[in-house]
Amino acid sequence: MTLHVLTGGAGFIASNLIHRLIDLGETVFVLDDLSRGRPDFWAPFQGRPRFRSAIVDCADLQAFRTALRDAVGDGDIAAVWHLAANSDIPAGIADPRIDLQRTFMTTFNTLVLMREFAIPTLHFASSSAIYGDHGETAIHEDIGPLEPISNYGAMKLASEAQIRAAVEAFLPKANVVRFPNVVGVPATHGVIVDFVDKLQATPHTLDVLGDGTQRKAYLHVEELVDAMLFIAAHAQGRYNVFNVGPPDQGVTVRAIAETVRDRVAPDAEIRYGTGGRGWVGDVPRFRYATDRLAALGWRPRHDSIGAVRRAVDQIAAQERGRG
Ligand SMILES: NC(=O)c1ccc[n+]([C@@H]2O[C@H](COP(=O)([O-])OP(=O)(O)OC[C@H]3O[C@@H](n4cnc5c(N)ncnc54)[C@H](O)[C@@H]3O)[C@@H](O)[C@H]2O)c1
Repeated sequence: MTLHVLTGGAGFIASNLIHRLIDLGETVFVLDDLSRGRPDFWAPFQGRPRFRSAIVDCADLQAFRTALRDAVGDGDIAAVWHLAANSDIPAGIADPRIDLQRTFMTTFNTLVLMREFAIPTLHFASSSAIYGDHGETAIHEDIGPLEPISNYGAMKLASEAQIRAAVEAFLPKANVVRFPNVVGVPATHGVIVDFVDKLQATPHTLDVLGDGTQRKAYLHVEELVDAMLFIAAHAQGRYNVFNVGPPDQGVTVRAIAETVRDRVAPDAEIRYGTGGRGWVGDVPRFRYATDRLAALGWRPRHDSIGAVRRAVDQIAAQERGRG
């Protein structure tokens, strides 16, 4: 038996990836400490022969090692999809130990165990946050200097550096995939969920952090998972780095607020804050160059606004069901 290991396996993106890997006939072992994940995302898979799960803190090396040993038995691990990280960026600004543990140490320990268990391939969920603020410049993978402005971005960049060194020392292959803002369901966090929840609580007003001019690229999670699987199948080098996302100018927070308002509470008044940033550590605008992935043969079908509109419909339905 050959396993695919997913760290952060009870998270938003991982729950989409689990579906796709199982559909492809793979057996998955998912680990999560449930700091931000939702065990109910595992409910559709529980009891299926190609699904195993464990509640484990991957920053705890011994617990992580024991869980892997128990799951693998006398089989093999084909790859680790390392998605565990802190996804609450403001929380990581308030307390830097959160990103040290959840974003960096989970990566460090993943690499220690990949060496011990001789696991050949790592797929790493990196982020546009590693680049810092490059204004209107289209960001390609080799741009510099890399000056992240959040602890989350700093610990993702440190993770990438550790992975690069591991490839030099022992790791046969690593694919580093730098996600943009990812939207879709089952959503647990992010700007669309915030706006939908606020409007469900107070249907007459929507308070927006910042002046609404922040503009970023958005990708639907279904397309992101598609891209990850495409890269896994087609990237040839030992160490591969890809931006993934639409190569457009992105969508403003104002456009997202209006789309959510129109969908959830059309009579609500939108009240903007001041300043071009939502919070400390928020990169106010970024735009991706994605020529490298396009040259490999993958492009998203939707642009940023298309991804946002689809996600708003899905998240509004999801939150109505939960409310
Ligand atoms: N959603 C986005 O827009 C986005 C953008 C860029 C990068 N990413 C990256 O993609 C990955 C998945 O993100 P997501 O949006 O699904 O977030 P998420 O919070 O839903 O998933 C991350 C999961 O990691 C788990 N986790 C955190 N610390 C852990 C630990 N010490 N041990 C075990 N599990 C731990 C959390 O409980 C959570 O379930 C993350 O690495 C994130 O940094 C996401």
